[in-house]
Amino acid sequence: MSSEGAVPLSADAALEWSHKDKKRFLHAVYRVGDLQRTIKFYTECFGMKLLRQRDIPEEKYSNAFLGFGPEDSHFVVELTYNYGVDKYEIGTGFGHFAIATEDVYKFVENVSEKGGKVTREPGPVKGGTSVIAFVQDPDGYLFEIIQRDHTPEPLCQVMLRVGNLDKSIRFYEKACGMKLLRKVDRPAHKYTLAMLGYAEEHETTVLELTYNYDVTEYTKGNAYAQVAISTTDVYKSAEIVNAVTQELGGKITRQPGPIPGINTKITSFLDPDGWKVVFVDNVDFLKELEQV
Ligand code: CO
Repeated sequence: MSSEGAVPLSADAALEWSHKDKKRFLHAVYRVGDLQRTIKFYTECFGMKLLRQRDIPEEKYSNAFLGFGPEDSHFVVELTYNYGVDKYEIGTGFGHFAIATEDVYKFVENVSEKGGKVTREPGPVKGGTSVIAFVQDPDGYLFEIIQRDHTPEPLCQVMLRVGNLDKSIRFYEKACGMKLLRKVDRPAHKYTLAMLGYAEEHETTVLELTYNYDVTEYTKGNAYAQVAISTTDVYKSAEIVNAVTQELGGKITRQPGPIPGINTKITSFLDPDGWKVVFVDNVDFLKELEQV
């Protein structure tokens, strides 16, 4: 599974390489029941831009990429619409995405005016000062709206629930080269959360993992699919993931190599809870963007 003639990396060398690799969150991939409805909602209620759209009739699906800036520098959402499927099950494991804005009240007012559903009115978090709100998109995906000074990356969180937080932290540190940015235990509310990512929390997208006391099993549903992360070398990255899965669980679901027809090199794997991650070759990804 390593590239031609490559010597397998020792565990230390692998970890060192992994931390030097320029990884970045590219996009979150999930399914929606009506592409135009979601595009309208995200552009009007959230202020996202439609970045690209493609229809693949021979495989009976279309997708659309939306975000707050160009894909070569921003985290975006990749929506998938499968012909004829208008409803999906989100499951209990998926938590939310998050959008940072300088004025949560104004943001939420706009969502309400456009007919969007607000599930938690804006206000300070319990026992804290930061202002948040929650809104729900037409398919039921939750978006946390977070008050934050101007940030280069407004699309700032993917929250997933996990059954063993310390194991998940080790997995994402080792397999994905992420840094643990923050870990907070809230015994009064019976949960612990961890923020992991590739830069400081206020200037980047983070993976927010939540552990609810004594809950180890969640349903995955069929709506949320995966998060994609760029790498300079899918072969080396896969070698590291493979070693980490032997220790912590999870598994490679697609060996590294080019996707037939597109030639973008990828590898994909599941974390110990079964959440899927795809590594995408950064040079191939940028080439794909140029072809649009
Ligand atoms: Co959150």
